[in-house]
Amino acid sequence: MALSLDSIDIHTPRLYAEQGYPWQAWDLLREQAPVHWYERDDVEPFWAITRHADVMAISGHPRVFINGGPRLRLTLKNEVELGRGGVDAFGAARGWDPNEPPDLVFMDDPRHRQTRKASSGAFTQGCMRGMAAHFDALALQFTDELLSSLEQRGTVDFVRELACKLPLAATGEIMGLAPDDWRQILVWSGAVLGEIEPEHRLPGETVAEASERQSNEFRGYLENLIHEHRQPGGGPSDFINRLVNARVQGKPMNDQQLIGYLFVLIAAGNDTTRNATVGGLVALLEHPEQRERLCRDPLLIGSAVDEILRWTSPVVCFLRTCTEDFKLGEARIKAGDTVCMFYPSANRDAAVFEHPYRFDIARTPNDHIAFGYGAHFCIGTNLARAELRSALKALLPVLPRLEVAGPGHRIANTHVSGFSKLPVRLIA
Ligand code: HEM
Repeated sequence: MALSLDSIDIHTPRLYAEQGYPWQAWDLLREQAPVHWYERDDVEPFWAITRHADVMAISGHPRVFINGGPRLRLTLKNEVELGRGGVDAFGAARGWDPNEPPDLVFMDDPRHRQTRKASSGAFTQGCMRGMAAHFDALALQFTDELLSSLEQRGTVDFVRELACKLPLAATGEIMGLAPDDWRQILVWSGAVLGEIEPEHRLPGETVAEASERQSNEFRGYLENLIHEHRQPGGGPSDFINRLVNARVQGKPMNDQQLIGYLFVLIAAGNDTTRNATVGGLVALLEHPEQRERLCRDPLLIGSAVDEILRWTSPVVCFLRTCTEDFKLGEARIKAGDTVCMFYPSANRDAAVFEHPYRFDIARTPNDHIAFGYGAHFCIGTNLARAELRSALKALLPVLPRLEVAGPGHRIANTHVSGFSKLPVRLIA
């Protein structure tokens, strides 16, 4: 059936798992209705923003298009928005303020800027240069572990055996979290997106119940860490000591604010970078000429990482609330309306990228906005790039021997998507 503006579906999480990203629908929107009022029965209406220039325009006007409105992540009517559970039993038992934004993503300036500053110094390019050799060593170790699993077991899940490891280890090291806790943190942060293995559910527990229980366990873990670092003399993690002592608008952050902050820093960096790693592997295996080119010329790793980020765009979208009437192209967005910016679509915009559907590891320029743009531009950009460089460098010699061994499994989520499982094997 030919696609039409009335028939496209860009909001149903299940379809992201079953069919992958809705590229054709986004192409149609960019071409025919780049600022499109999207109405469907099971979702509150929103303006679908699909062109690169329009995503930049909205992100570049943070006073007009605020994060602190009622919607930030695309959510079905019968579901609770990710990260916005309100004060549940966990918070109520601690006397939490129901009006407190869950974390810095929900804030606007000036509070947003000050909150962000409390941690952004740990993610600069300079800090990442200092960590590069260490990340390289970790990536080599994880690749060796992948190879021995492949040799022993034949087919293995690339996500579990490799892609999830470096993001977790890198975040864990920067934040000074105990390595023994990393595996458990991975389970908790997957649960945030509803990705829960059967072995991590209690008997009779639904996915939603398991997700809530695990989020609360994660918050309890963070609470203990914060209390440990509030003791005189501080705790073992410099990162958490700094956060505990930081002042925002003249005051230190309380437990509720610090738990939300650590929660988002840890969760935001795991699945995104993992999905870029696995999506990057798939892209390189599906484009053998690009893979061979990279093997011949490893100096292209830097530009290959950015092409992988553009190609995979692991964050699907963010919403904003419009606070005053605004003209965008032909459309008049009204105060109170919601806009939804689709980053993968912006990253296939032919107005910015020559041959946008060509995977080109040497693409220059490559002005992708996989990390967003403006005031909320991803805080972990340098970290994610550093991890992806190390992962690619370590994997490069193995790539010619690897093949995908089955269909894989995608995440049914419209905020962060990509493969959560991908079977791979060594070529016979
Ligand atoms: C491939 C990896 C990643 C991608 C594609 C990605 C993408 C994004 C995007 C699109 C945004 C929203 C930007 C906007 O609103 O303009 C964002 C924000 C954010 N990201 Fe990332 N991210 C990645 C990795 C990381 C990592 C490793 C961290 C760990 C520190 C992280 C932490 C955050 C935080 C805390 C925010 C909110 C910033 C704010 O509101 O000021 N991200 N990211």
